[in-house]
Amino acid sequence: MIEVKPLPFEKSSVENFLSESTFNFHHDKHLVNYVNTTNALIANTPFENLSLVELVKKAEGPLFNNAAQVFNHNFYFDGLSKEKTQCYGKVKELLEKNFGTVDSFFAKFIEAATKNFGSGWTWLVQLPNGSLEIQNTQNANNPLTSNLKPLLTVDVWEHAYYLDYQNRRADYLKDFCQHINWNFVNANLDKNFS
Ligand SMILES: [Fe+2]
Repeated sequence: MIEVKPLPFEKSSVENFLSESTFNFHHDKHLVNYVNTTNALIANTPFENLSLVELVKKAEGPLFNNAAQVFNHNFYFDGLSKEKTQCYGKVKELLEKNFGTVDSFFAKFIEAATKNFGSGWTWLVQLPNGSLEIQNTQNANNPLTSNLKPLLTVDVWEHAYYLDYQNRRADYLKDFCQHINWNFVNANLDKNFS
């Protein structure tokens, strides 16, 4: 069965970015609902003992939608930092190699996420040849099903930012880029998502 992953910080601690109220809904209502629905769908089926990543790769239809939303939300919350951060380490080298500078990566990431029409996710992924790419996905879709390595994601469903930013998605994205947990992004470079 899939468990609700706790937030890696206090809900009230992310100053000048997302409010406690946003996390009350986003983590405690939306994510919990995706987890509960996933568990109801896998109960007494061969999917029951699969890991979350295996579930996302093998499921279809409503089970895929709910399991992928659990993965995506866990990945998004783990990629957030309550404090403002600076990019560092191996991922900084790779961003500079692929996008010129970290700021130019931010500009391209914000542009892609702003243009991601409707509900979806914007990802930084690593391709099998080692290069980095920005990808938009719709609804619950994510890079795991294309066998790409996810490094970072931002939730652009309106429920992620509407309480704090209303229709100002670009402002949410600008602040997101200042609150990235680069420890998490660097660690993902060495992870195997199979
Ligand atoms: Fe969300």
